[in-house]
Amino acid sequence: MSDDWNDYADGWDGNSDVRTYAARAFAALDAYAGITGGGWQDKRVLDFGCGTGLLSDKLAPHVRDVAAVDTSDRMIAVLQEKALPNVQALHLDILDSSGQGAGEGLSGFDLICASSVCGFLPDYKSAVAALAGRLNSGGLFVQWDWLAPEEGGSGLTEQQVRDALRDADLGSIRVEHAFTMEAGGQAMPVLMGSGVRAAE
Ligand SMILES: C[S@@+](CC[C@H](N)C(=O)[O-])C[C@H]1O[C@@H](n2cnc3c(N)ncnc32)[C@H](O)[C@@H]1O
Repeated sequence: MSDDWNDYADGWDGNSDVRTYAARAFAALDAYAGITGGGWQDKRVLDFGCGTGLLSDKLAPHVRDVAAVDTSDRMIAVLQEKALPNVQALHLDILDSSGQGAGEGLSGFDLICASSVCGFLPDYKSAVAALAGRLNSGGLFVQWDWLAPEEGGSGLTEQQVRDALRDADLGSIRVEHAFTMEAGGQAMPVLMGSGVRAAE
């Protein structure tokens, strides 16, 4: 398996497992936060590690706008070709704090989603803290990742997620089994972790 996400961009949307994952993640989010209920029409969303925008595409009709960011230029190119009206597709590293201006102005979000991204990051904990700082007061951070039975495996443990959300000063923390994917006859559980930025 390549470790360059660019290599997966062209075939990403053709992969039914990837589409199913996005659909189940959105359904879990909708069940929790009522995205399709009409109350999110004026809300701003950041889709972190958006890939080709499968989740952005589902969120966009129900919110004001979606900033979709990814470090893979090929993933972003596929999303840009979709020309979704209220989705801004951005090739940048929003976690880069080296002063290169990455992600300037990308703050004040009511919802930040990270679908199958956090488990691949070299410093997951710092990433959650940085992203949480881009939420409005009362804003919601949500992630989905493969559930790892123990630290060091692929994916994240429930405890790792709980600790990262707590250390990012998020409240109303929930970490739960969201859905299960099947791959090669194997059941692969996916967890959903969420937390809310406290009012100031
Ligand atoms: C498994 S894919 C998930 C894509 C998409 N969220 C989906 O569910 O279809 C992981 C994505 O995270 C992106 N990614 C990895 N590290 C990133 C970072 N530091 N900032 C933004 N995106 C990142 C990759 O380029 C890739 O597109």
